[in-house]
Amino acid sequence: MHLLIPAAGMGRRMGSDRNKLLLKLLGKPLLVWTLLAAENATSIDWIGIIGQKLDFPDFKEMIANLKLTKPVTLVIGGDTRQESVYNGLQALPESAERVLIHDGARCLATSELFNRCSETLLSCRGLIAAIPVKDTIKIVDRDLFIKDTPNRSHLWAAQTPQGFEVKLLKDCHYKGRKLGWKVTDDAALLEKCQLPVKIVEGEETNLKVTTPGDLAIAEFILRQRTI
Ligand code: CTP
Ligand code: MG
Repeated sequence: MHLLIPAAGMGRRMGSDRNKLLLKLLGKPLLVWTLLAAENATSIDWIGIIGQKLDFPDFKEMIANLKLTKPVTLVIGGDTRQESVYNGLQALPESAERVLIHDGARCLATSELFNRCSETLLSCRGLIAAIPVKDTIKIVDRDLFIKDTPNRSHLWAAQTPQGFEVKLLKDCHYKGRKLGWKVTDDAALLEKCQLPVKIVEGEETNLKVTTPGDLAIAEFILRQRTI
């Protein structure tokens, strides 16, 4: 299975002056934890890291130090995650039929989750890891009044990996570019094309490190694992 890792963000909400994936978690850059999970996932045999050119020297150093057994390709990202994934798709080898996409910032995803997604992707054309939401979610209008309370049993919080048949996802990206769709995950492109996307049970600890508070929580979770 081919794996693309979007890692070309700026980490604005983290408030750091460089890409948040270079920040350290228990002594290793965030992206290294993501790469270790990918390296340990037996189903993954090719890794593409999508990044900003500015970060390539740091990424190359990480890859060299890790001595990964899997081939790694660096791809130049775009201004949005959607454009970064688009660039990643163009860089896949011709032979790639299916692809997993996993945010570099979700550095706590386990190799078991990668394998579970790879396995499920053999029998469907699109999937995402997700978990049931615990909070009651409110739909709110501009004036901060509640408009609706959706039934919680239908609500799942989207995570990555998200996995797709390559040709299908490329077609959806082309259509999205032509029609100006702006989406924050890849599943949304399939949804807009009225294509089915399967849910794979994700992991509660598979958080997206977004704010300084998330860094502290991620460190706590990792510490539990290494005891
Ligand atoms: N990403 C990307 N290209 C972009 C923007 C984001 O590849 N132009 C990647 C990030 O590196 C991250 C993932 O998409 O691994 C999810 O994005 P997010 O958590 O929003 O990261 P940032 O965009 O870096 O953070 P922020 O939105 O706070 O600036
Ligand atoms: Mg972002």
